[in-house]
Amino acid sequence: MTARIIGTGSYVPERIVKNEDLAKIVETSDEWIVSRTGIHERRVAVEEGTSHMAVEAAKKALADAGVGAEELDIILLATSSPDYCFPAGACEVQAEIGAVNAVAYDISAACSGFIFAMNTVYGFMKAGIYRTALVIGADCLSKLTDWSDRSTCVLFGDAAGAAVMRAEETGLVHMTMGSDGVKGPVLSCVARTTGNFANGRIPEIGYMYMDGQEVFKFAVKKVPDCVRQVLEESGVPIDEIRYFILHQANYRIVEAAARRLKQPMEKFPMNMDRYGNTSGATIPTLLDDMNRAGKLERGDKIVIAGFGAGLTWGAALVEW
Ligand code: COA
Repeated sequence: MTARIIGTGSYVPERIVKNEDLAKIVETSDEWIVSRTGIHERRVAVEEGTSHMAVEAAKKALADAGVGAEELDIILLATSSPDYCFPAGACEVQAEIGAVNAVAYDISAACSGFIFAMNTVYGFMKAGIYRTALVIGADCLSKLTDWSDRSTCVLFGDAAGAAVMRAEETGLVHMTMGSDGVKGPVLSCVARTTGNFANGRIPEIGYMYMDGQEVFKFAVKKVPDCVRQVLEESGVPIDEIRYFILHQANYRIVEAAARRLKQPMEKFPMNMDRYGNTSGATIPTLLDDMNRAGKLERGDKIVIAGFGAGLTWGAALVEW
């Protein structure tokens, strides 16, 4: 038994922020952003938070799958920007959609979060523990962004994507996940747990920090490495892969991965031009875009792969 994706959904905020809009608040230009990242615009949440976006994506995924919320055994929300430290955003989703029979909790693995959540569900289904799962990637990084820091504020956007997974004979074939905590400081955001009465410090409200070049070097090596690993370990030739659904951080990272894997760019769909890097939401929103456009056919072999803060990385070979 394995875990198969049987429905997808996504949600993006209405507010569109174009590169030209950012050029009015920091010293940057549309030309710089497009040539370095491939991003033209992103969505920014105004009133909605991470849980609201997650709920909307979840409802669409359930409708697409034809699954009732009460059928869910488990809800995993991958996010690094939850609205609350606790309860978990997954519990809010559970309450909003009425998934009364599910266990619900969050997974924190930044941009690798959706892959980690999907792979966790695969483990549960392979072991025969759960039958129906809702996996969501949702992030509202605009609220963790220093809007005066041009090196990060141009990169990210807000969104949520979701997939319903069911225990079936075909689906997720093989996966890998990895972490390197030593490299954690190159991409980080402090939580409000730094101060208390004993140390006399006021809790810090931090913004994200990124050493872009270090992250870039890590990504262009790790992404092709983990794609090759899942293919080699499962004995599937790379030419049999119809699409590589990669984390949408930067088109240059996707291009470098395609080059290293010796695969044509047509196999690497992208949506970062419209949404920017939406962290845990890039992969499920891209899957949903493709699913709704009828680009995925039953039996297609696809590889999903990504990387993020931690540092973390992961990949999965999926039969659609
Ligand atoms: N607009 C204009 N100039 C900018 C800028 C912006 N938004 N951001 C940085 N610059 C400037 C820098 O200050 C630097 O100027 P200097 O040469 O005078 O010092 C110059 O552009 C080059 O900066 P650099 O950081 O070397 O650019 P880069 O080619 O490495 O591109 C990133 C920067 C962030 C696009 C790139 O490093 C990257 O994509 N890294 C990976 C990030 C990522 O994927 N993060 C998400 C992980 S999940």
